[in-house]
Amino acid sequence: MSEFVLNVNGAPLHVNAPPQESLLFVLRNHLNLTGTKFGCGEGQCGACTVLINGRATRSCLIPASAVSNAKIVTIEGLDQNGKLTAVQQAFIDEEAMQCGYCTSGMILAATALLSKTPHPTDEQIVAAMNGNICRCGTYPRILAAIHRAAEARRGERAQLTGGAR
Ligand code: FES
Ligand code: FES
Repeated sequence: MSEFVLNVNGAPLHVNAPPQESLLFVLRNHLNLTGTKFGCGEGQCGACTVLINGRATRSCLIPASAVSNAKIVTIEGLDQNGKLTAVQQAFIDEEAMQCGYCTSGMILAATALLSKTPHPTDEQIVAAMNGNICRCGTYPRILAAIHRAAEARRGERAQLTGGAR
C-alpha cells in the first residue's frame, strides 16, 4: 500500500491504496465518488472519463498515485456552487441519455471539448467524442446537447462582457 493525496474537485483527499490501483478504482472504492463509471476497464468506452488538469482522461488506465499532483475533476465536482454547468443543463434539456451509464463520461468529454473549441462543428464534436461509447445510441441527442451547451456558453459570455451575441 502507499499513501498519497489526490486533489479531487478542489479538495485534498488522503488515499491509502496499492500504488498501481487505477484512479477509477480509487475514486469509486476509496473516495465513494461513484459518478465515474466502470465500463470496459480497458480504455475503450469512455465511461470512466474524468478531467485531469482540464483534459478528458480515462481514469481506468491511470494509476491514482501517478496523478497525485494533478487537478482532478469528476462529475460530482463539475457544478459551480450547486449550479449546473451549461453542458450538464444541455444534456438534461435535450434528454441526451437513456440508461445514463455513459453520461458522466460524455459530459466531462464535452466539457473538455468546449473549453478548447467553444463553437465546434458536427465533425469536431464527432472527432472529440468518438471514444465515448453510448450503448443506448443517444448520439443524435448528445450532439444536439453539445451544440446547445456551446450556444448557452456563448450567451453567458455575452452577458458577462455586456456585448451583443
Ligand atoms: S472503463 Fe475506462 S474506458 Fe471503459
Ligand atoms: S445512455 Fe445508456 S449507455 Fe449511453
